[in-house]
Amino acid sequence: MRVGLLHSVIRKEEKALVQAFEALSDVSLSLIDDRRLVYQPQRKPMEVDVVLARSLSHSRNLNAVRLFESAGVPCVNTAEVIDLCGDKLRTSLALAASGVPQPELRVAFTEETALQAIEALGYPAVLKPISGSWGRLIAKVNDREAAEAILEHKATLGSYQHSIFYVQEYIEKQGRDIRAFVVGDRCIAAIYRTSSHWKTNTALGAVASNCPVTPELETLCLQAARAVGGEIIAVDLFESDRGLLVNEINDTMEFKNSIATTGVNIPEIIAAYTLERARQGAAEVAHV
Ligand SMILES: Nc1ncnc2c1ncn2[C@@H]1O[C@H](COP(=O)(O)OP(=O)(O)O)[C@@H](O)[C@H]1O
Ligand SMILES: [Mg+2]
Repeated sequence: MRVGLLHSVIRKEEKALVQAFEALSDVSLSLIDDRRLVYQPQRKPMEVDVVLARSLSHSRNLNAVRLFESAGVPCVNTAEVIDLCGDKLRTSLALAASGVPQPELRVAFTEETALQAIEALGYPAVLKPISGSWGRLIAKVNDREAAEAILEHKATLGSYQHSIFYVQEYIEKQGRDIRAFVVGDRCIAAIYRTSSHWKTNTALGAVASNCPVTPELETLCLQAARAVGGEIIAVDLFESDRGLLVNEINDTMEFKNSIATTGVNIPEIIAAYTLERARQGAAEVAHV
């Protein structure tokens, strides 16, 4: 099977994935640097049976996968999943449609209605851009004056995207959140991300420790994964006084801090799953 690993820079994650693919028999691995190819609709830019999408940039990942899919190449994750997970509002709508518990959400399009939404949810509230990661431009708003200032800054200095005001209730999450890894129909591992800062992204210095995958956690993560159609994803959850809440879902997740922490060989499982997808694709073609 010919596996394509779509990437930008090679991070520790991609290095680990390359090693995992090389350890599999029956795999010839092509590294697809998203900076080097020219794509044409419905034409394979290279001969591969499956693409594992790992580009650093969300929009390159999404658009490259769209182009591979247009040429009939199965991709994990699919363009639809990458698109959904890259958009916090689309994710929230998909979770709501599937009845997955999440923090209370309000969306507004003007400073006035956004302020109303924040006041209705109560302080503190959390304001987020609908796309982005690593905790960037996520604001905890503690009072009305801060709310007014942040809304004015967003509306005046930000692009149009920043005037889609995504407002969540603030969850008292006891200094940590949970990141759970789902591959196919299994929740393979999870970590707590603990920080003295309210943002618990590991990119911002949160410390990772092992989180046991309880049946409750696994069930909810699989429900969340199904809600967005995700195959290889990370589900972020808060422990709240009303139980586990799903905050967001990440495609193309980082996992370098989670292998030693959980004792689970995440890249090996991802590689095996990707190969399985290539085989399924080949079987489908054989049936046509
Ligand atoms: N509603 C919330 N209540 C409490 N903490 C939050 C809330 N939303 C986000 N956070 C914190 O901020 C971090 C970043 O927010 P997140 O929605 O995951 O955005 P990003 O895509 O930038 O990672 C989360 O990991 C969490 O620690
Ligand atoms: Mg996050």
